[in-house]
Amino acid sequence: MTATEIEGRKLTLHLEVEFRFAQREDLSKLEWHGEYTHFRRVFAKAFEEQQQGKRLMLLACINNWPVGQVFMQLVSADDFFMFARKRAYLYSLRVMDAFRGQGLGTALLQEAEHILIEREYASMSIAAAKDNPGARRLYERLGFEVFSEDTGHWNYVDHEGRTRYVVEPCWILEKELRK
Ligand SMILES: CC(C)(COP(=O)(O)OP(=O)(O)OC[C@H]1O[C@@H](n2cnc3c(N)ncnc32)[C@H](O)[C@@H]1OP(=O)(O)O)[C@@H](O)C(=O)NCCC(=O)NCCS
Repeated sequence: MTATEIEGRKLTLHLEVEFRFAQREDLSKLEWHGEYTHFRRVFAKAFEEQQQGKRLMLLACINNWPVGQVFMQLVSADDFFMFARKRAYLYSLRVMDAFRGQGLGTALLQEAEHILIEREYASMSIAAAKDNPGARRLYERLGFEVFSEDTGHWNYVDHEGRTRYVVEPCWILEKELRK
């Protein structure tokens, strides 16, 4: 087939996206064939903490493949002052390039919000890197408001046991949750 013969030929796919929490079998798939191999231990730790009720790893799956994700760190009232409200910190929101711009990121955040409201969380927060105005715009469209900023210094141990240091100045946005 030549270039002119193939020109304009298209197939429209109807894809069903399933939202669910990560299972052990998903951990290697979260590496997205090498793009996120350096987070292998981070994923494993998050999964361990999901088992302990400290985190949630929400996935958007197509054909049982996680093409999008958002993780939630859960802060229970007992961790803070006696009267503290339950809060959740959302992080690692990402959607595979090929599926961006079609509402998946929005849907992941909305699903996370429903889950947290059902569990009677009072608020959720998320960080938007200062060099990622698109992410901030997305969060603000969904009702998050900037309430502080952070130098964004953090580190993690990669799959080879090396500590990697990250500096990502960011805005911290928050949204109050109501039933
Ligand atoms: C941010 C992200 C999860 C959005 O997912 P998505 O499925 O494309 O989101 P939606 O289709 O629901 O909404 C699109 C909106 O996402 C925002 N966005 C942020 N970064 C984007 C990017 N690289 N490409 C496309 N949209 C992006 C924009 O606000 C866009 O809306 P716009 O029309 O106002 O520009 C996705 O772009 C992504 O994985 N980016 C790389 C990782 C990242 O930046 N995560 C946020 C950490 S601060």
